[in-house]
Amino acid sequence: MKGNLKTLLADTLTPDELNVLYASYDIVGDIAIIRIPEALKQYTKLIAKAVMQTNKCVKTVLCQTTPVSGEFRLRKLEWLVGDEKTETLHKEYGCLFRIDLAKCYFSPRLSFERMRIAQLVQNGEVVTNMFAGVGCYSVIIAKHSNAEKVFSIDINPVALKYIEENARLNKVEARVVPVEGDAKLIIEEKLRNTADRVVMPLPMKACEYLDSAVSALRSTGGYIHYYDFEHATKNENPVEKVKTKLSEKLQRLGVDFEMPVGRIVRTTGPRWHQVVVDVKVER
Ligand SMILES: C[S@@+](CC[C@H](N)C(=O)[O-])C[C@H]1O[C@@H](n2cnc3c(N)ncnc32)[C@H](O)[C@@H]1O
Repeated sequence: MKGNLKTLLADTLTPDELNVLYASYDIVGDIAIIRIPEALKQYTKLIAKAVMQTNKCVKTVLCQTTPVSGEFRLRKLEWLVGDEKTETLHKEYGCLFRIDLAKCYFSPRLSFERMRIAQLVQNGEVVTNMFAGVGCYSVIIAKHSNAEKVFSIDINPVALKYIEENARLNKVEARVVPVEGDAKLIIEEKLRNTADRVVMPLPMKACEYLDSAVSALRSTGGYIHYYDFEHATKNENPVEKVKTKLSEKLQRLGVDFEMPVGRIVRTTGPRWHQVVVDVKVER
C-alpha cells in the first residue's frame, strides 16, 4: 500500500518528506484511518486523496489525531475526504461487523488473534468475553466454533448496541449474549463459576481484573486469554516478562496453572509490545 502511496506522492513530496510518511494505515470497511506527522500537516488533504486513489474500496478517509484513551478506549478522528461518516461495515473471516469508529473501539490488527481464539474453543463451551467492544471476538467465536454461549460484557452502551446488531447480522444472536456494565461487577453478580474460557482483550486493565477472570471460570477450571502491554529492551523477551508478572499474580490468588502459549500479538511502539498469554487454570 505504501509503495503506491509513495509513487503517487513522489512528484509532490521531497524524499525527506516521503521518508516520514507513516508506513501503514488501517482500512476498516470502506474507511481508511491515517495519521499525519507534524512535518506533513500542510499535505493532509493531498495524502488523504492519494489514499483514496490507491484503494478503490475506500469511500472515506479519517485522520486519527489522538492516541486511543479513556475507559471506552476511543481516539479522536477528523474527517478528511470522501463521505462524511464514521460508521462502516467491516468483513472479517466471513463475519460482518457494523462499527462506529468514533464511538467504539475497533482494530483490524487483532483479526488473526480473534480467529486463533475461536479455533481453540471446544464444542459446548461457555465463553465470557470481559471487554467485548462491538463483539468481534464474540461473533467470530460463535460463528467458527460450537460454543454454547458467549457472554459479551462491555461498559460502553454504544458498543452494546453494536454487539446486538452484529450478533443479529451474523445470525448468532441466540448464542452471543450482550451484557452492559463493568466486567468485575457483572461477573461478581451474575457470572461466577459459569465459563470454560475467559477472554480479556483490554491490556490496560487485564492485571487488575485477573481475579474476576478466575472467578468467572467453572470450579473445574478452564482457560484465560490474558492480554497485556509490555516494554522490552534488546536483551529482554516481552512474553517472558508478562509470564513472570502473571505467574506471581496467579500464585498470590492461589491458583494452579500452566501457560501453554505466549506470543507477541503486535508491536505498539518503540520496544513496546502487545502480548497474549493463554493460561490453563486447574482446580
Ligand atoms: C481494547 S477494547 C477491546 C474491544 C474488542 N474486544 C475488540 O477486540 O475489538 C476494550 C473494550 O473494553 C471496554 N471496557 C473498558 N473498561 C471496561 C470494564 N471495566 N468492563 C467492561 N468493559 C470495559 C471498552 O469500552 C472497550 O470497548
